[in-house]
Amino acid sequence: MTTNDHYDRILGLRALRTYRDEPLPDALIECLLEAARWTGSSKNLQNWSFVVVDGDQKDRLAECGDFTDPLRAAPVAFALVEEADGYEFDTGRVAQNVMLAADTLDLASCPITLHREDDARAILGLPEGARCRYVVAVGYPTDDAVPRKFGGRKPMSDLAFRNRHGESW
Ligand SMILES: Cc1cc2nc3c(=O)[nH]c(=O)nc-3n(C[C@H](O)[C@H](O)[C@H](O)COP(=O)(O)O)c2cc1C
Repeated sequence: MTTNDHYDRILGLRALRTYRDEPLPDALIECLLEAARWTGSSKNLQNWSFVVVDGDQKDRLAECGDFTDPLRAAPVAFALVEEADGYEFDTGRVAQNVMLAADTLDLASCPITLHREDDARAILGLPEGARCRYVVAVGYPTDDAVPRKFGGRKPMSDLAFRNRHGESW
């Protein structure tokens, strides 16, 4: 079994939903934007953009999803915009990069779904063909920040196969 700091951080990354009432300095926000920008994408198209939202704009965005309390609680969030011809897979990679980078900076983060994309598009003023389904909320964790009803993970035997689906690893 491998263990080193990087690996342990990957395994230990959890969605944390409570944040201190403290703004994030621009320097930290820029670190996270850089982590987003350097994410790999299909054919290196980088058909994405990132809107940093805070204050009232963040709360307006929170109206677009059904489980957005962490978005309201966080000082800042990164709205991940899939530009025209972008891929959801790439957006997922950006989200993970931002979350892992946040974790290395001892910040807490949580992905948030915006179920009402049309509303989100209008609030963010997105251009034609662009969409925003996901936001990553980020902040300093409260001292008592814990993952919500942590469900663990399915056993490896349900997930990993050798050569053909269903054949045990
Ligand atoms: C695509 C995606 C959308 C999510 N949307 C929300 C959300 O809207 N609200 C929320 O509180 N958590 C959201 N989460 C966080 C998941 O609930 C969380 O990752 C999952 O329960 C596993 O917990 P863990 O990340 O702490 O291991 C989302 C996660 C993903 C990957």
